[in-house]
Amino acid sequence: MIKFPFYNRTQFFGFSLLLSLVFSCTPQKTQTGLVGEKAMVVSAHPLASEVGKEILLQGGNAVDAAIAVHMALAVVYPQAGNLGGGGFMVIREKNGAVHSLDYREKAPLGASRDMYLDEEGNPQPEISQNGHLASGVPGSVDGMVKAHEKFGTLPWSKLINPAILLAEEGYKLTNVEANFLSETSIKLKKYSSIDPIHFTAKEFKKGDVLVQKELAQTLKLIRDNGREGFYSGEVADYLVAEMKRGGGLINHEDLENYESKWREPLTGNYKDYKVITMGPPSGGGIILLQMLGILENHSISKDKYSNYLHLKTEMERRIYADRAEYMADADFYPVPVEQLVADKYLKERFQNFNPEKATPSNEIKAGDIPLESEETTHFSIVDEEGNAVSSTTTLNGNMGSKVLVAGAGFILNNEMDDFSIKPGFPNMFGVLGGEANKVEPKKRMLSSMSPTILEKNGSLYMVVGTPGGSTIPTSVFQVIVNVIEFDMGMHQSVNEKRFHSQWKPDWISYEKGYSDKAILKELGAKGHELNERNAIGKVDAILKREDGTLEAGADSRGMDTAAGY
Ligand code: DON
Repeated sequence: MIKFPFYNRTQFFGFSLLLSLVFSCTPQKTQTGLVGEKAMVVSAHPLASEVGKEILLQGGNAVDAAIAVHMALAVVYPQAGNLGGGGFMVIREKNGAVHSLDYREKAPLGASRDMYLDEEGNPQPEISQNGHLASGVPGSVDGMVKAHEKFGTLPWSKLINPAILLAEEGYKLTNVEANFLSETSIKLKKYSSIDPIHFTAKEFKKGDVLVQKELAQTLKLIRDNGREGFYSGEVADYLVAEMKRGGGLINHEDLENYESKWREPLTGNYKDYKVITMGPPSGGGIILLQMLGILENHSISKDKYSNYLHLKTEMERRIYADRAEYMADADFYPVPVEQLVADKYLKERFQNFNPEKATPSNEIKAGDIPLESEETTHFSIVDEEGNAVSSTTTLNGNMGSKVLVAGAGFILNNEMDDFSIKPGFPNMFGVLGGEANKVEPKKRMLSSMSPTILEKNGSLYMVVGTPGGSTIPTSVFQVIVNVIEFDMGMHQSVNEKRFHSQWKPDWISYEKGYSDKAILKELGAKGHELNERNAIGKVDAILKREDGTLEAGADSRGMDTAAGY
């Protein structure tokens, strides 16, 4: 008999009803986000944020809440929340100790460098992005188990039960969710070996309740058996059978051998702030420290915004060229992290910066290192004691490989596309890669995910991160700069329009709706090509204000919601 720790059916549906009422009203534009006196959870889905808050109210710490939020997102946010994906978690304990957990997916044992090339050597992104061959060995469940073993205070079952309830009883869809599911379930039907009819049998409409019975059963096995509930037994059998039917590679040995890893977080300083972020296999943290390192040698102001955007773009061109050359899984390739973030290197790298004129990307190559040799989700949590978790997790694309594991009810990632499938060939986010990030068995693919925590004068200051593929580190950078340099609060900083460049393509992307034509004209006059695009990132962040209260920044680009007290 399952015990539901805090919702009963009436409460749950009452809460869903309340949410549909909230979403049918026009949200009020305010410049300040939700403020909590004690604790805060900000995530991509209101039900997941509420689950996190309830865990904190029951005395769980930020890591307990993070595990429960991760599991809840796997149910209510199927485009990115996951059991079949992976991610990174950066933790800062109340005493200042910092940790990072790498539960990124790994290439299966059967993977090989040219597995996405046809006989003529042409790259086949269709198979690195969709279907069974696109999946790396999932890391999320092992990651959550490891996080719980080291930091959990509440029983594991208490953290999984809310997700089970949401899967078993279902949750009410908003209009946006219903449309999204109707559109993408066609792809689930196309790529899964057995039609997952609970997703595909009908067009969803607002108010429909999405029930996921198989997923609930998988979650129960994870609740009752921990890691073994996923990487062996029934669920592993379902996953391997799915792979066999669809021509994928993941086998029992891959699953048994998968291990998430505690790694030293990457840390650096910007002015009075200490930045704690994710190192390899993410390149995101390196990029963030490189950008902040260059910024420290320049002064910027909101009055000269186009100068700031020009400076930022010129950094991005050079740094993304470095990414293509030097960044990868450091267990397989000697990533020169310290050299890339060193002040001296950054000064040299930026020597040819012209404040008046854009440098064409074709004139930029990766720097000379003195060698010794569109879906993810982020959530931020601070608990009453001041422990903080910054966690980004992903299936890579929307609904990953679009393969739902029949019998087990979860969707698999398409993370293999984050490898360089052929040197110089762009991945789905348009970023290039080379030898360093080639496919190799058991290797982790290079990521841009950058869950980050900032300290100011030794105390917790900000928790921040976002989805957005290659735009992740530059979005995190802009949110930090908005607060520190442009005096914005957390909510305003997160909801400002964003810009992004990445070396190639040679342009500045800016978000639809950005209205300051004069700024765009000034950038054009410096020689930048401009490219309007949809939303850049979906940042969920928390700022500890001077009076000790916590201001949430929940991104209005999505349904992102803060829950605090
Ligand atoms: O690890 C990475 O960098 C990508 N797999 C992240 C994908 C992502 O953010 C998609 N979201 N919009």
